[in-house]
This record gives sequence, C-alpha cells and structure tokens, in this order.
Amino acid sequence: MSKKVSRRQFLTYTLGGTGAFLASGVLFPMVRFVADPLLRKGEGGEFHDVGLSVDEITDTPKEVRFTVHRKDGWYNPPKGEQMTAWVLKLNGEFVALSPVCKHLGCTVNWNSNPQFKNQFFCPCHFGRYTKDGTNVPGTPPSAPLDRYETKVQDGKLLIGPLIKK
Ligand code: FES
Repeated sequence: MSKKVSRRQFLTYTLGGTGAFLASGVLFPMVRFVADPLLRKGEGGEFHDVGLSVDEITDTPKEVRFTVHRKDGWYNPPKGEQMTAWVLKLNGEFVALSPVCKHLGCTVNWNSNPQFKNQFFCPCHFGRYTKDGTNVPGTPPSAPLDRYETKVQDGKLLIGPLIKK
C-alpha cells in the first residue's frame, strides 16, 4: 500500500527542512560562541616559583607576590593576575595563606595593628586571624584564611592553586 504525499505536505516538509537547515547555520555558531569558553578546561593548576628559597622561610609570615597567567572562560588578562600569599613554616610544613579576608574579602596584613601583635589583621571590620590563618573567635570572619597548595623543588618553594574551603 503506497501512501501519496500531497503537494501541500511536500512543500511543508521541503520548506521546513530548508528553514531548519538555515536556522542551524545561524544558531550553531551563536551557541558555540556562548558555551565554548565554559567547556574549555581552565589553565590555573600550575605551580609558580615565587623566588623564595626554603631557607628564607621562617615561622614569621612573609609576603610574596607572583603573577598567574590563566584563562578562565572569557577572563584572560593579558598581563596576568597579580597574586599575594603569606608564606611561613609551621611545624616543619610550608604554608602559603591567601590574604583575602573570609568576612567580606578585604586584604589582611601580618602584624599591622599594634593592639593585636602576631596576628593577621583586617582593617575593614577588625577581623583577626592567628598565625596559621585560623579566624579569631568573636571577630567578623567566620572561617580560616584559604591556603595555596605548596611544594618544594630544587630548594625553592613553589605556590600552586588556591584550596578553597
Ligand atoms: S572584610 Fe575583613 S573583617 Fe570584614
């Protein structure tokens, strides 16, 4: 039993198929433009030589600055991203703390307030952290400072990605 296709059906299928083909030619590049950077893997997993020999690291936090070149979606600063870490040695372990306050994101500094010696101090709302980055109870921050991954290579400390808690 053969089923005949009417002229109307033939035109509907032909025009519909052609329209869908043309529309996909326009829509596919648009979808790809929007989604592609999100689908690519970030390049932020490397370790950086911050120019610090392990012999220079003591139990007193030392500020180090380094530049990270990474592409994250559409975010790709040409000169890289300036990062800071507070580096120290605690119980034989090298620790690199983020300077970003866990309250509202201001920058903490070591030993910057004479009232609170040997603590990280955040000037925005008087947040405080102990040497190992633990938030002092009763101050605004509700979590310890984030830490960077660290490793030692050829006697130098390398700083890796931030470990977010
Ligand atoms: S941002 Fe640091 S205490 Fe508020």
